[in-house]
Amino acid sequence: MVDLAAPFGAAFFVSHTGKHMQQPLMATYGRLPVRFERGAGPWLWDDRGRRYLDALSGIAVCGLGHAHPAVTRAIHEQSGKLLHTSNLYDIPLQQELAADLCSHGDMESAFFCNSGAEANEAAIKLARFLGHERGFASPKIVVMESAFHGRTMATLTATGNRQAQRGFEPMLEGFLRIPFDDLAALDQLAREHEDIIAVLVEPIQGEGGVRLPGSGYLAGLRARCDARGWLLMLDEVQCGMGRTGKWFAFQHTDILPDVITLAKGLGNGVPIGACLARGPAAGTLQPGSHGSTFGGNPLASAAGIAVVSTIATEGLAGRAALLGHRLLEGLQQALGEHPGVREIRGQGLMIGIELEEPCGDLVARALETGLLVNVTAGSVVRLLPPLILTDAEAGELLERVIRLLRDHLAAST
Ligand SMILES: Cc1ncc(COP(=O)(O)O)c(C=O)c1O
Repeated sequence: MVDLAAPFGAAFFVSHTGKHMQQPLMATYGRLPVRFERGAGPWLWDDRGRRYLDALSGIAVCGLGHAHPAVTRAIHEQSGKLLHTSNLYDIPLQQELAADLCSHGDMESAFFCNSGAEANEAAIKLARFLGHERGFASPKIVVMESAFHGRTMATLTATGNRQAQRGFEPMLEGFLRIPFDDLAALDQLAREHEDIIAVLVEPIQGEGGVRLPGSGYLAGLRARCDARGWLLMLDEVQCGMGRTGKWFAFQHTDILPDVITLAKGLGNGVPIGACLARGPAAGTLQPGSHGSTFGGNPLASAAGIAVVSTIATEGLAGRAALLGHRLLEGLQQALGEHPGVREIRGQGLMIGIELEEPCGDLVARALETGLLVNVTAGSVVRLLPPLILTDAEAGELLERVIRLLRDHLAAST
């Protein structure tokens, strides 16, 4: 039982044994003072009946919006049949989802898990395994500054954020870090190390500030990986599943990676992650070499299948491209020359508005106005709205974000 009358942060809980507990959760999150009760499309309602426009989608998760009928139906039907069997047995729904994802991404095989970090763990383990097969005693994976790959120890090591790593040292061995979007730095590493096996990179850095690399970057990485037999592993956990206007962000270029990691938008809120692979990477892991109890269970797979088929049938990647273009254009027009705005950038519905000054306080101000946005990398207002926005909703979102930023910038000068 929760004492809902108490102010936020001071709520107490009474466990079913009758024990009063002040704070039953570990303090891992700085939470905003709101409790959502239900959602529909891009809208959320709190426990006081107040409505919010969700321009964040649970951090790029609910690409189909809240309570999408296709996902609701899939979960409802599957939960009445079978939730879980373990990967000791064939799971036809998992195979169906693997085939769907691989066909959209030109990949050959999939491993399913429960989160983005786990998808990247699978990629890291797969690369290391291949490295050992090639005779490297300590295979190295190249990762980027400002990258975000997760919070498990290997993915935290791969993450290029000292603040996130602080207190959890020692980090793991076997990672080499260079600046994002810097091919010369990669060439330098190649001269210094003979045991590199893979490059792990986000096609667009999300947590790092919605940073897009130069147009030749992925092709440049591909060429270097081809020349040296390295795997090109793309973390599409945030930018995949239609968000940038294509199924996968790399599809804005002509290249194919060897490995793609996915999670977030894949289950629209049902936890599921995937590591897709082709070529030598696809056949590396063998029975016993990796696994997950829950990964790709019938419930999660049914949700994933519903998401993939909805993105396809409703043309949501194309819709993300169109709406993203309109939003970027509208933001540029209204704020591009505004004092205090450094840059407005993005692809599809992954948009960042970088300000000159840190602006974390803007999130609470937006919440007061009934708008959910996020600030990342200190000074980048991040928009990750659902792909199902109507034209009118996209217009309202644009107006509200412009007003929010104008008010914020006026108040801070
Ligand atoms: C690019 C990227 N990779 C990995 C992750 C980690 O995903 P999860 O929180 O599901 O472990 C995130 C989460 O924000 C992400 O943005």
